[in-house]
Amino acid sequence: MSLEAKGGTYVPISAILNILYPYCRTIQNVCEGEWGPIPLVFICRGLASLPAAPCLDKTTVLATRKLLTGYLVAVETYFRGIIQVYTVRILLKLIDKNKVPLEDFLQILTLVKRDECFLKGTKIWQETVDFLAGEEISDPNSKGVAYEAMGTDIGPASSWTGPGVKAILEQGLTKYLDTELDSRYSSADHIPALTVARLLMLTANESMATKLRDECPCATLRQACQKIAGIVNAINNHVYMSQHKADKAILLLHLLRLEMGLIGMDKMDPASLVIQDTVTTCRDELLVYISRRTLEDLKEMDDVPLLDLYMDSIDMVARAATLSPVKFTNLVNTCTTCLSRLAVEQSLTLHRKLQQLSCMSIMGAVANFLSCDTANQRYLSVIGQFKEFLQKWTIMTSFSKPTAEKSLSQQEWGKLASQFLQNQWQVVMVTIVKGGAPWCALTELLPLAIETLSVGVEETAIVVLKCLIQIIPKVVSEGSCPDASLCQILESSWACVQEARRIPSFWNVLEAFVQVAYLPCLLSFPKDSLVIQNLRNYADKLIEQGVDKNGVVNVLANQIYRALFPPDMIRHAGKFVGLIIDLCMFGGLVRRGVRQVYEICAALKEAGEDCPENTLLLPIINEDIQVKIKVTSLLCHLDPADSTHCCLATEVVQLCCAQYVKVADGSTNRFANSLVHRQRHRLIQTVLLLQELVTMESVEPLWEFSWSSLEVETQPSIRHMLEWLIVWAMYRHKHLRHKIWALFEKFHDTKNLTMCSLLGIVIHLGPHLPADEQEEYYSRSMQHILPWCMAHHFQTRIYSQAVLVKLWEQSAQLGLHQIHTRNPILQTMVDFNQSNCNSTKNVKRLLDSFFFKFLDFKKDFMLETLYYIMPKMTALTEEDWIHPKLFTLENPHWTEGGPPKFIGVENERNKFKECDPAQWRYLTMRNFEDVEDIDGGGGGDVQKKIMPWQQMALEEDVVAEVEHGVKPPVGAGLVVVTSLINKVPNLGGLCRTSEIFGVSEYVLGKLQYAEDKAFQGLSVTAHKWIPITEVHEDKLSDYLQHKRLEGYTLVGVEQTAHSVCLTEYTFPTKTLLLLGNEKEGIPVELISLLDVCVEIPQQGVVRSLNVHVSGAILIWEYRRQQLMKNAAAS
Ligand SMILES: C[S@@+](CC[C@H](N)C(=O)[O-])C[C@H]1O[C@@H](n2cnc3c(N)ncnc32)[C@H](O)[C@@H]1O
Repeated sequence: MSLEAKGGTYVPISAILNILYPYCRTIQNVCEGEWGPIPLVFICRGLASLPAAPCLDKTTVLATRKLLTGYLVAVETYFRGIIQVYTVRILLKLIDKNKVPLEDFLQILTLVKRDECFLKGTKIWQETVDFLAGEEISDPNSKGVAYEAMGTDIGPASSWTGPGVKAILEQGLTKYLDTELDSRYSSADHIPALTVARLLMLTANESMATKLRDECPCATLRQACQKIAGIVNAINNHVYMSQHKADKAILLLHLLRLEMGLIGMDKMDPASLVIQDTVTTCRDELLVYISRRTLEDLKEMDDVPLLDLYMDSIDMVARAATLSPVKFTNLVNTCTTCLSRLAVEQSLTLHRKLQQLSCMSIMGAVANFLSCDTANQRYLSVIGQFKEFLQKWTIMTSFSKPTAEKSLSQQEWGKLASQFLQNQWQVVMVTIVKGGAPWCALTELLPLAIETLSVGVEETAIVVLKCLIQIIPKVVSEGSCPDASLCQILESSWACVQEARRIPSFWNVLEAFVQVAYLPCLLSFPKDSLVIQNLRNYADKLIEQGVDKNGVVNVLANQIYRALFPPDMIRHAGKFVGLIIDLCMFGGLVRRGVRQVYEICAALKEAGEDCPENTLLLPIINEDIQVKIKVTSLLCHLDPADSTHCCLATEVVQLCCAQYVKVADGSTNRFANSLVHRQRHRLIQTVLLLQELVTMESVEPLWEFSWSSLEVETQPSIRHMLEWLIVWAMYRHKHLRHKIWALFEKFHDTKNLTMCSLLGIVIHLGPHLPADEQEEYYSRSMQHILPWCMAHHFQTRIYSQAVLVKLWEQSAQLGLHQIHTRNPILQTMVDFNQSNCNSTKNVKRLLDSFFFKFLDFKKDFMLETLYYIMPKMTALTEEDWIHPKLFTLENPHWTEGGPPKFIGVENERNKFKECDPAQWRYLTMRNFEDVEDIDGGGGGDVQKKIMPWQQMALEEDVVAEVEHGVKPPVGAGLVVVTSLINKVPNLGGLCRTSEIFGVSEYVLGKLQYAEDKAFQGLSVTAHKWIPITEVHEDKLSDYLQHKRLEGYTLVGVEQTAHSVCLTEYTFPTKTLLLLGNEKEGIPVELISLLDVCVEIPQQGVVRSLNVHVSGAILIWEYRRQQLMKNAAAS
């Protein structure tokens, strides 16, 4: 708002300032409060999206320092990156340039981490440039006058004008480089250096040039760089020049290089070129200076920060300027000479020790550069030098503290020791990788590596492990290392991983360990060798640890995939069948808090607006799916024509089946999407994937397994895969085709559910049978199906009628006219089914369903159907859907050696799109017959992910309910969970109350309670009319989380410190009541999972009510509220 626009009155502006004042308060509160990361993300996001308005004063701006340096340190990196982006944006939008000097803004900007969000080239970086280049008020004096008139004491906005910025830059640089004669470099120099470097880079662009009145975009930067180069180039010749000044100049140059950011990495922009030129101009003097300083002047512990600076500088020089190999050779020569000299000296002083450390660090820095891709063949002479050095050098496994330095803490020294060892091993590694080995028998290095691993800190461990990746294949191929030694190496490496569990570099240590342990040469050891046993053991432990730590198992799965994928390696997979199964069924239930984090990250990433465009900061995602992608990719590249592959696949299938039985632990009555359901689903998915490779002698057992599983399995997602398995088996094996007729007899009386499966199976096979078998197949099928079309059992009857229609159509299409001419009466039945709209709409529905109408068991045998369409169609949780593109995207080797041989990736025909999930409304069998009434002709509100298949396969008890003509409970929506209660009379009583008040699901800890006489005595017949589910106390937490996902509000019936009084509570329609144990109530760990606890107000002396009474009161209150709501609505 301009002052002129308001005709010279200042009132509206002060009014606005009054409104804006609370922003300052809010931001200060945000900076001071102890927020959780997620609320903080959102509150910062909200503040950052306010319209731009100058309202933040100096105190508020400086308050953000607290946020950036304190609390954020402990926040997860991704969120930390985003919060920093928002904080910068808040400042850019709301800072009042008249109240806040530029210096204060810069001070805060320096605290924002480059690697986490403020890389050059990112959106927020560009916004900051624009902000700094933004328009200035042309006449600062009049502005000052205006504000004075308002009674404020704000001065002119001088520091934000072009000349102001330039002045700050110049003063800042001069002040920074101005050093006392006796001052010395310390880590305190870092912040002022970064402030100058950052401002230099932010202003080195076109939009700033005019503002700074520069003749070209990088003029100011160039001047600064000339100053830096001048200092560095003079340092070796000017005896009296302050070394501190030179060190500061080097630091500034180093930081400028880092600030080059994204752009500087690939294409050189003008600013980056200026910096590169500067490094090139002063590289020779710089190296001379560094080698002199490191070898002579690092004498005390206070000099150690210099060592880090010099190592960074060597790296900078190596990468930024094409350095002549001679320079490196000279540097390395100086170091090796010094190291050899010191090696023979006894008990070194601190000065000598630091010399040793410096030399090794320089060698390490050179080695580090040589190991990167940009270092080319030109530097091979340096590798020769390394080799020569190593021939004489005795590898050190510790770097002991000088004996005289008593006051030096172990911790302080430990860092130096680690630095020494790390650099020493870096030299070893590069020498091996670049072909300099062997300089000794490589087995000699192994005990040294083990010793270093046992003392080394994690960074050292990573380098040693990387060396082992190089050494082990060589010693294994030489046969020079006994198994026991290899196992010892593995054990030491494993111990490092365990020690690193709580530190940031854990992932690097883990990655390096996994690469060592699962090296192809170790995977090739005999099946019963100690090495393989150990590897299996570590894999088991990693899987165990991966349940709690997202991503651990992925590291393992990646390596297994990488190592076993090549055609000559896959045969070794047979030694790890157990591991393969574990990977196939991997993936746990995600806790509420964790899921929230995943979802927020996904949303933020999708919004794309504010996320740092930095690959270092990956959003937190649930990585479990990747594990399945890797293992599935490995399995689907097996070759059915290769008998070893078939044996492997058969073993996998057999173990999957055994595991399928084991995971359920005797109980089949599991709620949908429970962990057990999902694990079983994944196991059968693997079996179905590999069915073609199953060897002849295992076909029969698999057939038996499939049928016996169908008799008990209740989850549609699994049932349909079992059915598909059977269809394949019948298709491939003639003798099995003959067996199904007997099954019609077998399931005649008892298994309605299995009968429906049998009927479904029949329709899939016919069109794919050999032509000479079709006629007989169709006549026999119809013969067996006809009686079931009149079955008393509702679901079987509907199924049979649909199957009959389908078979009739198929036989016409296949040209089996005799069947039609022989059975004219059937045509009448089929016509009736098609035309009569009242009695047959369910048949039509079934015929239009995915399984009946769309699925072709042969053509649709694709990864897409198995891993994406089927889970989606059968209402399996989204966490188990794998989009087909992921298989090819995630696996760089996908097409190496050709695509998979027995399964395709994506369905060619897009027909599944026609099978619109939205047209299906969730129906339970209770209202199956009322489709028309409920559906109202289609459209309307639709529940996501619930598909026809699910409603087709129903649990027998529910079917029985329909058969008995039981009315569905009114206002289904209340679930009563009694798993914590163990007194049978309470359970029986609650069952009766629940039934009477229309509870939709009554959950017992054990189903057998309902068979107890005492239970039935109290429940009368209620247990017959109410759906009862079994959820054991141990599984309650999983169950509750699932119910929440289904949309239920989890209400604890309990007196707790934070309970809401029943009179105050309004029950949502989808409510789950959890009742407490008679003695202990609801355990605390479950209370933390609940949304709310509700208590009944008490007036008496007795501490609590009986649990049945409490339950009854809450159930009634729920029902009462629903009745009132319905009455109000009508
Ligand atoms: C006898 S109480 C359990 C013992 C109780 N937690 C104690 O303090 O010793 C059994 C259960 O009845 C229910 N209950 C009893 N009195 C209640 C009240 N006033 N409000 C809500 N629930 C109550 C709770 O579910 C409780 O876990």
